[in-house]
Amino acid sequence: MSSPISAARQTVYLNGCFLPLAEAKISVMDRGFLFGDGVYEVIPVFGHKLLRGDAHLRRLQHSLDRISLQNPMSDSDWMQLFARVLEKNPGENRAIYLQISRGVYPSRDLTVKSGYPATIFMMVLPVKEIDLALLAKGIKAITIEDFRWDACDIKSTSLVASVMLRQQATRAKVEDAVLVKHGYVTEGTASNLFLVDGNTLITPPTGHQLLSGITREIILDLATENNIPVIQRPVSQQALYHADEIWLASSTREIAPVVKLDDQLISKGAAGPMWQRMMGWYQLQKQAGR
Ligand SMILES: Cc1ncc(COP(=O)(O)O)c(C=O)c1O
Repeated sequence: MSSPISAARQTVYLNGCFLPLAEAKISVMDRGFLFGDGVYEVIPVFGHKLLRGDAHLRRLQHSLDRISLQNPMSDSDWMQLFARVLEKNPGENRAIYLQISRGVYPSRDLTVKSGYPATIFMMVLPVKEIDLALLAKGIKAITIEDFRWDACDIKSTSLVASVMLRQQATRAKVEDAVLVKHGYVTEGTASNLFLVDGNTLITPPTGHQLLSGITREIILDLATENNIPVIQRPVSQQALYHADEIWLASSTREIAPVVKLDDQLISKGAAGPMWQRMMGWYQLQKQAGR
């Protein structure tokens, strides 16, 4: 088994070159740096298999289309590049971080112009192996008003609102926040939300208020395959407190059960039975690399 990658030994990809992380430099005039004018993806890799690499590339294309930035590569070129960057950073549990910004302009100007190549950066993040026993203890969260913009379907590098929201959760000494807009739940600070009502799985529908998570997509597929009824509908804040279970799901966190929300225990303060089943299916999916 290969040893995990450490930051010091990281080989990253920047604009056509592979180089040590410490030597990867971009211009201060990069629009990603000046404006957060870029998009990104985080693609989990188990063993040597990307988990739903095709879905991540589909979402990347969606984000690029939404900000009118041309995709600098074809899907097959991306896949080849992913394979090369993974080869240079061996390990078992990893994730590819890919960021594309609108590149470097000679002056600081919001206006978009043609003729400037995008900045492409890629690194491999070591991902901690999920400790199922620890995860089953669950996490605490608070509800916070979601003050982000009306374009949360874009996986944008402009993340200052998310940083502020997470900071609010940290100050409240909880792991995460469930975001609520006009009385209805959108998602977590970097995850999608599910609730369990009896035998039914409920999640807010995709749209401009939340990111269409790939883990969310996997969970919905697994529920369907296993005959669990699924409803995608708006979820009121009040519905949260009556839920049998609440989960927050993302590529790096997988599926975290929320066992305390605000001052209220959820599923008696422990991971619920539906979570146990879904985690089992999810682990099999990971091993199969589908
Ligand atoms: C705002 C937001 N929602 C949802 C997710 C979950 O997406 P995925 O399952 O593709 O990791 C993320 C992941 O980072 C996120 O940042």
